[in-house]
Amino acid sequence: MGFGRGKVILLGEHAVVHGFPAIAIGLDRGVTADAHAAGSDLLRLSPWDLAIRPDVQGEEPLKRAFAAALSLYPGRPSLEVSASVDLPAGAGLGCSAAIGVAVLDAIDEALGIERTREELAAAALAWERVFHGNPSGIDNTMSAIGGVALYRKDAALRPLRSNKPLHLVIGYSGEPSSTKEMVASVGRQLASDPERVSTAFQAIEVLVRNAQLAIESGDHVALGQLLDLNHTLLSSLMLCTTKLDQMCQSARGAGALGAKMTGAGGGGCMFALAPKPDVALRLRDVLGEGAFVARVGA
Ligand code: MEV
Repeated sequence: MGFGRGKVILLGEHAVVHGFPAIAIGLDRGVTADAHAAGSDLLRLSPWDLAIRPDVQGEEPLKRAFAAALSLYPGRPSLEVSASVDLPAGAGLGCSAAIGVAVLDAIDEALGIERTREELAAAALAWERVFHGNPSGIDNTMSAIGGVALYRKDAALRPLRSNKPLHLVIGYSGEPSSTKEMVASVGRQLASDPERVSTAFQAIEVLVRNAQLAIESGDHVALGQLLDLNHTLLSSLMLCTTKLDQMCQSARGAGALGAKMTGAGGGGCMFALAPKPDVALRLRDVLGEGAFVARVGA
């Protein structure tokens, strides 16, 4: 069975596209997939009831992505892949990358190809490029490898160790988020006002470096403050929505140590850091439909 995790970026989204570091976690939930030889190539996606034929020129990104995935296996038999998705799509939790990782993992298994999770992550970038144009690679990497880690483009993933678990609560705004559009929007801001946007990226890097220390030393009060600051910087890049801001405020008011939007923004998800498990359950109720708790590490 192939598996690709969803992910949550704790700090550093968008800056990571431009070569700055980011910290992310892999979720336990994501996408499972199974592949077998068949009469023709087909990708079935549940629970959406989709049946996708590969098409390099296809209008739908899924058709092009499936074609890109299959092109990695010259001389293969025709394949039917069935994937089951347990993540909201277009919500900033790395759904498209998780599908790509699960599909490639399942095909590898069906064809008896052995590769490490790092090699799988690298292969899944071909899939991710179809969706996001200029991905940093953080989604496919965290999807394949998981854990809590510092990611920087073109550098080895650096796992962060801590003996104190993170109690995160992920909330969904219900507003769709397009990574491609939001990455392009930040790119346009960078081109028209390089000083303002570079300063924001540098400030985000400082937060990421401090968050690394806070995670490793188990200082979650400091980590919460860093999350709030990162949220403000992302707002300055016009990535937050009123709904995401309100959700973060509600979480802080209900006992979160910090809260921020996560992923591409313009909608999608936010998350809050809880000091302990019972507060995490309370925050889940406050954050409403679709909210869930993720306990990470230690
Ligand atoms: C999307 O999950 C995170 C972004 O930083 C884009 C990327 O890193 O490719 C917005």
